[in-house]
Amino acid sequence: MYTPSLSSAASMLLLLSTSTSYFAQAAVIPSHFAEVQHGTTSATSPTATLLACLKPLGSKVLTSSSPNYNQERYGFDLRYNYLPQVIVMATTVPDVQTATKCATDSGVAIAPRSGGHSFEGYSIGGENGSMVIDLTGFNHVSVSASGVAKVGAGMRLGPLYLELFKQGGWTLNAGTCPSVGVGGHTLGGGFGLLGRKHGLLIDSIVEIQFINAQGELLIADANNNKDLFYALRGAGGGSYGVVTQFTYQAVKPSSTVTSYTYDWDLKDYKGVLRAYVDFQVNASRDVGVEMNVGPDGLEMYGLFEGTKAQQAEAMKGFLSKAPKPKRSDVRVGRHIDAQLRFSYIAGNPTNIEALSLTGKYKPGDSRYTKGKSLVYPEPLKDSTIELLGKWGAITPKGSTANYIIVDIWGGAVSDVSADATAFIHRNAHSVFEFVAEWNEDPNAKPGIPDCKDCLAWMKNMYAEFLDDFKANYGPVRGYQNYIDKELTNWEDAYYGDAFSRLKQIKKAVDPGNTFRFPQSIPLP
Ligand SMILES: *[C@@H]1O[C@H](CO)[C@@H](O)[C@H](O)[C@H]1NC(C)=O
Ligand SMILES: *[C@@H]1O[C@H](CO)[C@@H](O)[C@H](O)[C@H]1NC(C)=O
Repeated sequence: MYTPSLSSAASMLLLLSTSTSYFAQAAVIPSHFAEVQHGTTSATSPTATLLACLKPLGSKVLTSSSPNYNQERYGFDLRYNYLPQVIVMATTVPDVQTATKCATDSGVAIAPRSGGHSFEGYSIGGENGSMVIDLTGFNHVSVSASGVAKVGAGMRLGPLYLELFKQGGWTLNAGTCPSVGVGGHTLGGGFGLLGRKHGLLIDSIVEIQFINAQGELLIADANNNKDLFYALRGAGGGSYGVVTQFTYQAVKPSSTVTSYTYDWDLKDYKGVLRAYVDFQVNASRDVGVEMNVGPDGLEMYGLFEGTKAQQAEAMKGFLSKAPKPKRSDVRVGRHIDAQLRFSYIAGNPTNIEALSLTGKYKPGDSRYTKGKSLVYPEPLKDSTIELLGKWGAITPKGSTANYIIVDIWGGAVSDVSADATAFIHRNAHSVFEFVAEWNEDPNAKPGIPDCKDCLAWMKNMYAEFLDDFKANYGPVRGYQNYIDKELTNWEDAYYGDAFSRLKQIKKAVDPGNTFRFPQSIPLP
């Protein structure tokens, strides 16, 4: 099945699959993936010194002998099965202060975890033996009369939208996937359907509450810890410390919002994509839009901040150039209704309470997936559109979904200069997210072998896009929130000219490199 996905933090859907493939394949789990036996002593066990240091946190500290250890270490991407030596289920600032200090004193790497959506398993460390500081307990939201919103860093986007709506009809310019945690999503930039109108989520930050490796509580904002404030906005995911709270200036959406989907057969790709690319240049900032290209066709979806008549006017130029859609579905409602629509929660509920995600999150919302990205600085050339048509048509054997999302950026994202924050992709015309998924069983656990054809599709496709990119668009750029450990020269692709400054800030903030994972900002 082709699964449209809107998320800017991660390509995920809450699809309830009836597949039983996990159970069918369970017999072939290789032994090195077998679950940790409770009480096993291994290289990943914490030392007595670390455990003694963490003792004040009591049952918030999970080790491999804790009954819920295995469940708590499952992340979004079930390909990764790393074994943290401890998972700290922090609920207060002092909990985090104690944990960071203990980890630093014991030389243990820390992985802060908000929603657990890292594409490469970095929210559980990206290697064995880390301390995961889980922030699920930081889920407070309070909005002032003027829309200043204090938000716990473990909040997920769905429940966050619901709370913002209930506390005065507010929202935020964030992504659509409801289970993505606000922490990682924000710290890597944060793009969503209001991005063209209100910029990235980092552009709405007023203040960040931050705990460093020494356990000190810091405030980073326009006047305090300015370098840190710069680095956290774009390069903040896991490299500098633990963010416990964001203060945002929330956004008041239009009282009427028009949401839409338009569908075409894949054979129409040239005409549709040509018109879509041109559309970016002059499109109203009230248009938020993404395009999904896959074996089942093209789907354009998004919202317009205004009435149906205004939406029709805003889309007119595009729709007159593109081939006629085979299907369209334009709806009028509140902003929160559009948010619910594009959350793709199982069963397509119409009651906004579904955004609260009261059901169990882990591991039911996880899947096996591989993602990659490219950030295009200018309108797509025909050669790139050809590749979208070619690779979009292929379904790898064993995949449950594979597609390429083409987001058009511009608008308010480009209003901020590339050196104002650590987010360098301000001039992006469009951003591609390449996605392959397999096994969406809500009961899936880590340990099933990778889908070889899915990974081959990804690798071969990306190689061709990369050649085309290098020939036509200049230095390779990727979006750090779609982090990809196979990306060579990722330092430059994600951070460009900001990288040397980011290393200097790293040295000042975390000189012992406590906050580390395979693609963290290193010491200079
Ligand atoms: C993590 O540790 C387990 C258990 O010792 C081992 O089987 C696995 O290979 C290790 N993984 C990595 C990536 O080192
Ligand atoms: C954008 O608008 C300008 C001014 O109206 C026009 O000259 C140009 O052709 C438009 N570009 C596209 C790609 O539609």
